[in-house]
Amino acid sequence: MDLQLNEEHVMIRDAARDFAQNEIVPVAGHYDQSGEFPGPIIQKMGEMGFMGIEVPEKYGGVGMDTIAYVLAMEEIAKADVATSTIMSVNNSLYCHGILKFGTEDQKNTWVLPIASGQEIGAYALTEPMSGSDAGTIRTRAELSADGSHYIINGRKSWITSGPVAHRLVLFAKTDANATPKYRGISAFLIDTHQSGFSCGKVEPKLGIRASATCEIMFDEYKCPVENVLGKAGEGFKIAMTVLDAGRIGIASQALGVAEAAYDASLQYARERIAFGKPIGAFQMIQQKIADMKSRIEASRLLIYKAALAKTAARDTGARYTTDAAIAKLFASETAMFCAHQAVQIHGGMGYSKELPIERYFRDAKITEIYEGTSEIQRMVIARNELQLR
Ligand code: CAA
Repeated sequence: MDLQLNEEHVMIRDAARDFAQNEIVPVAGHYDQSGEFPGPIIQKMGEMGFMGIEVPEKYGGVGMDTIAYVLAMEEIAKADVATSTIMSVNNSLYCHGILKFGTEDQKNTWVLPIASGQEIGAYALTEPMSGSDAGTIRTRAELSADGSHYIINGRKSWITSGPVAHRLVLFAKTDANATPKYRGISAFLIDTHQSGFSCGKVEPKLGIRASATCEIMFDEYKCPVENVLGKAGEGFKIAMTVLDAGRIGIASQALGVAEAAYDASLQYARERIAFGKPIGAFQMIQQKIADMKSRIEASRLLIYKAALAKTAARDTGARYTTDAAIAKLFASETAMFCAHQAVQIHGGMGYSKELPIERYFRDAKITEIYEGTSEIQRMVIARNELQLR
């Protein structure tokens, strides 16, 4: 595995680091407390090219590779996971699928406004009765009698950026009788300003509170046939392919928040005096520091391995499902581990809202849940290893 960063990688990493430390860190606590969407920050990130890092320039992005993407994501998440979530959905869940499965017209119309940062995108798969078991969605899309459009009815839940999204990739059932069920799913490109679309309950969340999440509803929504993404009936494979890419981004977010928790702990362990010494002089704190650092470095290597596999897949078309799942599983559990240790090392101050440590703890948890829980990642890894079917 060649881990040499090229000039472009260093440039985007440093730009993301400067922006994150100077413009996001000072306001992250405010957005967390208020639950407000960080519109001005997202707008600036769009102008800097962070919303379409792997998107070719002709479609509004900056045309870099997956290593560039994970480096930038790590830096933004280190400052604020909520902000990095909005960036992740635009880059991976929204743009990646359209770039991979869309027509030239779809890429021009649907990718460009999101990748260039003028608009916000979302991805709508999950439903109230269909989370981990994504093949059982119930939202229906029926072809009109004249074959010109689909009529969509149903409800989606936990839609990241749902309340502010201009466009989204939606998965719905086009063939209720298909067996297995997932073969009857298709993907659609949705304009949220059209009639028949509405937002429902906004989720009050434990963490990533500045990332807006809501239910969305479709009531006789008319989607022109030219807005079907890929072939009808291939929606489940599109959803899974997109999640493979997305999971590498979530792993990088997890790495970012793990590092933030670690850096703060290191500083505190050097400065906080107890029993006449810095607490870092005690072996129980040293063990925590060593375990945090080791897991962070291992996460980084797994993320780079998955990112290189994804970059290679552009030419070979090979799947990198297992690499992505391992990176997400390990990095997200590392994030939770590091945030937990950071609270413990900081003691009462780790539990106080005066420091960002408790925010890291609340934010880290989501990386073990969204884009496939840790249980689902283990299922994916084991099934691919065992090849029982
Ligand atoms: N890439 C391409 N194709 C894939 C694939 C992948 N990664 N994974 C599966 N497939 C294909 C299979 O090859 C199979 O196709 P064939 O019929 O041609 O053989 C088909 O899809 C079905 O595969 P499975 O039998 O493995 O499907 P399953 O029903 O057992 O489910 C699962 C597999 C891995 C559990 C899947 O349902 C899954 O990933 N669930 C988690 C869903 C998830 O992550 N949801 C998060 C949504 S987004 C979000 O979190 C919110 C947000 O906005 C951030």
